[in-house]
Amino acid sequence: MSIDERRVAIGEDRIGTLLEALPYIREFHGRTIVIKYGGAAMEDPQLREDFARDVVLLKYVGLNPVIVHGGGPEITSYMERLGMPVEFVGGLRVSNPATVEIAKMVLVGKVNKDIVLRLNRHGQPAVGLSGDDGNLFRVGRQSAPGGEDIGFVGRIERVEVDLLHHIAQDYIPVIASVGADREGNSYNVNADDAASAVARALGAYKVLFLTDVRGWLRDPGDPESLISEATAAEVQEAMATIVGGMRPKLQACLDAIHGGVGNAYIIDGRLPHSLLLELFTDAGTGTKIGPSR
Ligand SMILES: Nc1ncnc2c1ncn2[C@@H]1O[C@H](COP(=O)(O)OP(=O)(O)OP(=O)(O)O)[C@@H](O)[C@H]1O
Ligand SMILES: [Mg+2]
Repeated sequence: MSIDERRVAIGEDRIGTLLEALPYIREFHGRTIVIKYGGAAMEDPQLREDFARDVVLLKYVGLNPVIVHGGGPEITSYMERLGMPVEFVGGLRVSNPATVEIAKMVLVGKVNKDIVLRLNRHGQPAVGLSGDDGNLFRVGRQSAPGGEDIGFVGRIERVEVDLLHHIAQDYIPVIASVGADREGNSYNVNADDAASAVARALGAYKVLFLTDVRGWLRDPGDPESLISEATAAEVQEAMATIVGGMRPKLQACLDAIHGGVGNAYIIDGRLPHSLLLELFTDAGTGTKIGPSR
């Protein structure tokens, strides 16, 4: 086989992809990247495997990935099985003590351990944490954007960063978004909020939110209306018009940027390996939000 034939057989595009990734790998080496894992990427078994492999790869190439996860659909399905009412206001789950109990059981007992086991199996030991472990989160009560009382929905007031730095040296931290206040009352924390608080506290280089849409859409009903890049000021300006689950997410992006995180990304968790595509290729796939363009 001639050199040219061998080149074709190997596939020049594959080499191209590797070479394209190199400057990114160099740029991200030793950096902390916080990943909010939620939505569709959590439901499909193949996507769950892909996600675990991607995160393990990040660790192998020298990044410090930290996972913060939600579990919205799974909490809802358990609540429905128990005949409990499910209600959201401003994208936040209305949470009475029984709701918080279910959220804790599902997030900490099931979703968190599923992720930890999968990362372990793919070759990087992970440690699961909730906001209660090592006092990771101190939480205060939050009301809905309109001021309505939505029960035990918490806002993170403090993150115990030393604990995370410690664990992240050798393990991939996997954090379930629940926590307690000073009096020991438990709260359901929106996972986007939690990811943003963790990213700020760690001084993360980037925070990425995997979700079940392509990114921030100009028109939520039109997948073609993706906004691929926006500044924090542009997001701030649009905030009044944003509804549903995108609201806490965009607020989390804003808080992250204002808290010193380099960039925030909303990416499509339904797309296999969207994490790697966003981080290591020139063509971003979702919405990139930064302090400026
Ligand atoms: N402008 C918008 N652009 C994109 N999605 C939007 C917009 N407005 C509302 N949404 C809704 O936000 C949803 C994503 O947020 P949602 O809270 O449901 O998922 P998640 O945060 O990824 O997962 P989880 O809450 O379980 O952690 C989308 O499925 C969409 O229905
Ligand atoms: Mg959400």
